[in-house]
Amino acid sequence: MADGGYDVSDYCAIDPRFGTLDDADALLAEAHAAGLRVIVDLVANHTSREHPWFAAALAAGPGSPERNRYFFRDGRGGGSLPPNDWISAFGGPAWTRIPEPDGRPGQWYLHLFAPAQPDLDWDEPAVQEAFDGILRFWLDRGVDGLRVDAAPAMAKESGLPDAGHLPGALFESRSWVGNPHWDVEGVHDILRRWRAIGDAYDGERVFVTEAVVRGPERLSRYVRPDEMHTSFNFDYLTAPWEPRHLRRVIDESIAALEPVGAPPTWVLSSHDETRHATRFGRAHTAGAFGGAAVPPSPTDRGLGLRRARAAALLTLALPGSAYLYQGEELGLPEVEDLPDEALQDPTWERSGHRVRGRDGCRVPLPWEGAEPPFGFTADGVRPWLPQPPEWAGLTAAAQRTDPGSTLNLYRDALRIRRGTAALHAEPLTWVDTAEDVLAFDRGPGFRCVVNLSTETVDLDGQGRMVLASGSCDGALPPDTAVWLATG
Ligand code: NOJ
Repeated sequence: MADGGYDVSDYCAIDPRFGTLDDADALLAEAHAAGLRVIVDLVANHTSREHPWFAAALAAGPGSPERNRYFFRDGRGGGSLPPNDWISAFGGPAWTRIPEPDGRPGQWYLHLFAPAQPDLDWDEPAVQEAFDGILRFWLDRGVDGLRVDAAPAMAKESGLPDAGHLPGALFESRSWVGNPHWDVEGVHDILRRWRAIGDAYDGERVFVTEAVVRGPERLSRYVRPDEMHTSFNFDYLTAPWEPRHLRRVIDESIAALEPVGAPPTWVLSSHDETRHATRFGRAHTAGAFGGAAVPPSPTDRGLGLRRARAAALLTLALPGSAYLYQGEELGLPEVEDLPDEALQDPTWERSGHRVRGRDGCRVPLPWEGAEPPFGFTADGVRPWLPQPPEWAGLTAAAQRTDPGSTLNLYRDALRIRRGTAALHAEPLTWVDTAEDVLAFDRGPGFRCVVNLSTETVDLDGQGRMVLASGSCDGALPPDTAVWLATG
C-alpha cells in the first residue's frame, strides 16, 4: 500500500486486508448474477519492492538474470549519481541506489513512480511470459476485463537517454509526454500480445487502458483494432469549464477515435484527480494529475456542485462510453482539509510537502447514518482516510429519498440514457446558439443544452424538458444543463 495498492507483491492473490481469493470468486459470482461486470486493474509497469522478483534481484547482484527483470544500472560520476535525469511521478529522482549483497553502495534501480514501485523491463522475455500467465489467471477466474495501468510507461527508449528534466521538477502529467520513458513505440507490442490473449476467451472481455498521452491522435494508437478496446480520455478529464475548450476536446476525441473504430470516452473525475465538484468551483477549473501545479484558489462549493451536475448531463449525452468515479453520483467534493498526518499519497512526502496529492478524492464513500464511518466500515472501525462529519447530508441513504439529489439526477440520467435509442445510435450535431452555450442534437429527437455563460438562455420552442441539472423554467440559468425531447 505504498501507492494505494499500485505496488503489487503477488499478482495472483488478494491482499489479506481486503479478503481472499474465495471472496473474489464470490464477488464475481454475485456481480454477474446482478448483471454487473467486473474488471481488474493490471499494474504491469512496476511491481512492489516487496515482490519476490525484486528480492531475488537484490540478492543476485549486478548482471544477473534476476536483475534483468528490472532496470538496474551503475550510477554516473563514479556511481554516486543517478544513471540519468529522469524524475518520479511523485517528485524526486526516478532512481534509488541500493546496497549490494556485500553491503557496499551499489547499482541504482529505476522507479517512474515511488521507490517502492521498481519498473519492470518489458524487453525481458521472462517478464512477458510471466504476465501472460497472470492475465490468464484472472481471465480464467471469470473477470470481464482488465484496466491497464500506466500503459505508456511500459516501454523505454533503449539506452535510457536523458529526458532534459530540470532538477527538482515535478512529473506533471503533461510533461510526461515526449519523454524517453513515455509513449514509446514498444508499448504497442505489449498491448497487442495481451489483446490476443483476451481474444482467445469466450464471451466479452474488455481491455481499458490508462494512457495519458498528448492529444486524441496519440490516444487513438492505443485503441487500434488489435490493441485495447477503449481508454480513459484525459483531455476531457483535465479540460477546464470553458465552452470553446470543451467543444474542441469533444470534436477532436470523436474525430480521432472514429477511424480506428473505438468508442470515444468521457471521464470527469478519478482517483488521481481533484473531484470535479470542487475543481469547477475554483478559479482554475482545469485538472492535473493529483492537483500538481494548480495554483491554489478558494472553492465556491455551490458553484462547483451546480457545474458538476451540469457536466454530468453533458457527459452522459455524448456519444460513446462514460466512466463515473465512485462518489461523483453523490456530488462529493474533494476533501481539502485532511490533516497532514492522515495523508497517504507518496506525492506529499516526495514533493517536500509542496503537493498534497490525491487523498482528497479517495476518502471513503458515505453510505448511511449520521456520523463517520457512515456505514463504510463497521462502527468503531476507522476507514483509512477520515470522512468529514458534514457528509451526513450527502450519504447515499439521505439522497435516495430526495428527488432533487445528485444521486437521483444520475439515476434519472442513466435510466433515460439507456432508454433513449438516439443516445446509442445517433451522431452528435452541434446547434447554433448563444455565445458560451454548448448545444447539440443526437438525432432528430434529442437535444442537450449546457449554459456555460453568465446569462440565462431562453429555451422557448426548443423541445420538451426531459431532465435538468438545476431549476429550469423555460429559461436555462448559468451553469445548468438540460435534456430536451425534440421533433
Ligand atoms: C496510475 C494510477 O491511476 C495511479 O493511481 C498510480 O499511482 C500510478 N498509475 C502508478 O501505478
